[in-house]
Amino acid sequence: MKYFIITYGCQMNRSDSERIATRLQEMGHKPAKNTASANLIVVNLCSVRESAVHRALDQIYKLNNKTRKIIAAGCILPSDRKKLAAKNIAVWHPDDYFSQNPLRESKFSAFVPIMTGCNNFCSYCAVPYTRGREKSRPAKEIVAEIKKLLKNGIKEIILLGQNVNSYRAERDTNSSSEALAKADGFINFPRLLELINGLPGDFRLSFITSHPKDMSDKLIEAMAKCKKIIPYLHLPVQSGDDKILRAMNRHYSVAHYKNLIKKIHSSFARHRRVSKDKLLFSPLAISTDIIVGFPGETAGQFKNTLKLIKDIDFDMIYFARYSPRSGTLAAKLKDNVSPKEKRRRAQAINTLLKKQALELNKKYIGQEVEILVEKVDENWARGKTTTNKEVQIPRKKLKIGQIVSAKITDAAAWHLKGLEKPR
Ligand code: SAH
Ligand code: SF4
Ligand code: F3S
Repeated sequence: MKYFIITYGCQMNRSDSERIATRLQEMGHKPAKNTASANLIVVNLCSVRESAVHRALDQIYKLNNKTRKIIAAGCILPSDRKKLAAKNIAVWHPDDYFSQNPLRESKFSAFVPIMTGCNNFCSYCAVPYTRGREKSRPAKEIVAEIKKLLKNGIKEIILLGQNVNSYRAERDTNSSSEALAKADGFINFPRLLELINGLPGDFRLSFITSHPKDMSDKLIEAMAKCKKIIPYLHLPVQSGDDKILRAMNRHYSVAHYKNLIKKIHSSFARHRRVSKDKLLFSPLAISTDIIVGFPGETAGQFKNTLKLIKDIDFDMIYFARYSPRSGTLAAKLKDNVSPKEKRRRAQAINTLLKKQALELNKKYIGQEVEILVEKVDENWARGKTTTNKEVQIPRKKLKIGQIVSAKITDAAAWHLKGLEKPR
């Protein structure tokens, strides 16, 4: 059959789709260019927001006809599983998911899952109900996969997990790797980072997602010390109000979050101080997730979120309007912030973020940065700095996957412009 995979949701789902593709090819299926030419369609679903699930289910029902087979995959809530079963739509069961070889989308950047599932039960979140409990992947397997990737010229490794900070795998006494065999008791996330950072080769290392309650001092220290880890951290805060954070079951306060950011900045300042002749500009960039309109969120509590955004000066915020998910604790609370008010709050964050991001980006003007080229068209090459900022430079001879130096000439809120600098 000719297959096509539609992927919704986060990087975790994109990574899973790469492993689903291998499995489909092992079964003898061939890739199709689009849904129209496919007679086997896998829809990898995300359940975080209700409206998105509805759209995806509608799409499945529309695609479903006698000429093709549809399989739903990914993060599906029990209530949606019932809906799919009622329409006779099959659901994909990933068996031995980690050991499956991915069919990678990119030749220069690779997602490497290190754990899946979640034990945190934030009161609004569907993930623990769709992905189940936390499961960490053996360190040996992770290191072997990364070694292979580096040998094949991969320049960027992105470690994935719902909560990478709580990675914990048994030590492997039989390992041929000395570092792995010596690790006593178990391997936690800081240790895993050290192991990966120690692999030979020049590459960018990053990870998503971290939970503020699990950002230990050891992890902060390891992050700053391991020089292959890029100076960029995504640390979802969700709200800037202590009462809302408690209702969200997040297990930290605004003060704790602020203190974490302070510690991370000072740790990077200590370990990453560059010598005067080193011109590459890379301050530490911080991004976050915020939910607006959680049940009971008052105008005053939302103001606290705006205040936190000003205090932290985030480089990027992925904000969402609260959406009740069936089976979660928060779904029992009254969704009492009106859609209009949720939109207004989201808009207020966007306006503030845009203003702050522009000011932060202006600091890049005149500086020299390192860019990993991700896209090229006729006139422009686009790539990311180590701080996850998109930079556009005149294409010239640049190719995807290349790392170049560029001098920043212009800044907008969501991207920078620059000129290539010969190294
Ligand atoms: N494991 C990650 C990602 C969870 S889902 C983490 O802990 O950060 C990604 C983001 O979706 C969350 O950070 C949250 O901001 C948002 N989200 C989750 N559930 C939501 C809901 N019910 N309504 C609106 N946004 C939600
Ligand atoms: Fe969801 Fe919270 Fe787990 Fe993240 S940590 S996946 S937001 S329950
Ligand atoms: Fe990711 Fe959505 Fe699942 S955010 S973990 S694909 S519910």
